[in-house]
Amino acid sequence: MALSTGSKKVKTAIFISGTGSNLKSLIKFSKHKKSPIIINMIISNNSKAKGLRYSKIYKIKKKVFDFKNALSEKKVINELKKNNIDLICLAGFMKILSKNFINNFKGKILNIHPSLLPKYKGLNTHERAIKNKDKYSGCTVHFVNSKLDSGKIINQKKVKISKFDNSKTLAKKILIEEHKLYPAAIMKILSL
Ligand code: GAR
Repeated sequence: MALSTGSKKVKTAIFISGTGSNLKSLIKFSKHKKSPIIINMIISNNSKAKGLRYSKIYKIKKKVFDFKNALSEKKVINELKKNNIDLICLAGFMKILSKNFINNFKGKILNIHPSLLPKYKGLNTHERAIKNKDKYSGCTVHFVNSKLDSGKIINQKKVKISKFDNSKTLAKKILIEEHKLYPAAIMKILSL
């Protein structure tokens, strides 16, 4: 395992594109005495991401990059290295990272995905689960590799789909579980 805690907390960056409810839950988790991480940076590809407001509320450094090309990614890599970031948590981050980026942080990037992977990689997971009349959906935390939503799974939580659910209500139910699952995944890989 490339990640190691020793006695120090692991310096972490959270990547977001939107609301940032997972970011908020990870910040709260990081403040617990027993949390193995400290969140040093919030990074977004979207300057209008609502979640960026948590930077001010919790006094965490934020940076926006467009992630449009190798040069922009290089700037992100430099920023992360400058800040000695040792763990990256993608939390509603809607850009696909390049192979080069992932290789720079091998085994140190996690993602949360709103489905029971390997089912429903990519977008519109809730719509697809409902359309297929699945009885369950859920969420998954996994390591990021160069194939979309295909890295090693750390943990998953199943959520029952009721016949009254639409994609919005299902997304809400699953988000509640995501907020518990991500901290649990981090504890699983980092607690000694
Ligand atoms: C979450 O449901 C997360 O699993 C999903 O976006 C939402 C972000 O919510 N991520 C993906 O779809 C990644 N492919 P949040 O901004 O409130 O944390």
